[in-house]
Amino acid sequence: MASFKSSSSSLTAFKFHLGLFLLLAGCASAQLSTNFYGTSCPNVLSVIKSAVGSAVSNEARMGASLLRLHFHDCFVNASYLPFFIITSLGGPSWQVRLGRRDSATAGSVSDVNNNVPSPALNVSGLISSFSNKGFTAKEMVALSGSHTIGQARCTTFLPRINNENNIDSSFKASTQAQCQDTTSFVPLDVTSPTSFDNAYYRNLLNQKGLLHSDQQLFSGGSTDAQVRAYSSNQASFRTDFANAMIKMGNLSPLTGTNGQIRTNCRKAN
Ligand code: HEM
Ligand SMILES: *[C@@H]1O[C@H](CO)[C@@H](O)[C@H](O)[C@H]1NC(C)=O
Ligand SMILES: *[C@@H]1O[C@H](CO)[C@@H](O)[C@H](O)[C@H]1NC(C)=O
Repeated sequence: MASFKSSSSSLTAFKFHLGLFLLLAGCASAQLSTNFYGTSCPNVLSVIKSAVGSAVSNEARMGASLLRLHFHDCFVNASYLPFFIITSLGGPSWQVRLGRRDSATAGSVSDVNNNVPSPALNVSGLISSFSNKGFTAKEMVALSGSHTIGQARCTTFLPRINNENNIDSSFKASTQAQCQDTTSFVPLDVTSPTSFDNAYYRNLLNQKGLLHSDQQLFSGGSTDAQVRAYSSNQASFRTDFANAMIKMGNLSPLTGTNGQIRTNCRKAN
């Protein structure tokens, strides 16, 4: 795991090794708990934690990619495993309930498209997309703070950058300059792209949201007050984010004999 060339190949390699390890560990039990592997694999958490920690220190993007995967898996009902990611980037920690199994049906591209919110949504669309999964608007705003790390490809956000009015002019110019090659990736948080902090919300106050959906959270609508609150209170953001991540990790999980443990995490057995 020492040398990484590109995000996608290293992420695949990382998932492969982690999947193999957990398969060999051969754990089985009835329900999710923070102590799921307590007797069968007592070291599992420290192993995952150190594997994630070294992967993230090799490449900051790794943490962002893993976090996004967790989000997609929980929304799409095809789970891999929860990870300790955020902590290695300076973010809050929380207790992850282990024992999640994989969906017995293939997670298809259309599953992802139908379940993952589009960056073209307006604030009411974002609120209802999360409310369909049982999240409040406040939790949606907290979870969106994940975009304090990671990157997006130019084609995802150029329509906003080029055409919308609620954008800082110097941010617009510098982002366009980074997107002369439209296959490039740009940090979601222009202020502190690799640290897990509340700069994401301060960016929104300054009209420096990269995605349309990001800036929608502070655009004269019902979530403005919460964005303002998190922008000036890092502690409440960290607490609310951690609690919302626990909730997301518990979304309709497959446990016990439901679902399966995939031999290849990319497809059902
Ligand atoms: C509010 C609704 C959300 C929308 C519309 C959204 C959309 C997106 C989009 C379009 C990208 C860039 C993808 C690309 O261009 O390749 C992205 C990246 C990312 N998203 Fe979200 N997202 C949302 C919420 C979340 C949540 C709740 C999480 C995690 C809890 C999350 C974590 C991430 C991370 C970490 C990245 C960076 C991935 C990387 O650098 O590889 N997002 N998101
Ligand atoms: C998730 O998967 C389980 C078991 O495969 C299934 O019973 C359930 O209906 C699925 N939920 C959704 C939202 O697709
Ligand atoms: C938000 O988007 C939905 C769906 O595209 C649309 O019906 C609605 O009018 C929009 N709301 C606002 C306030 O623009």
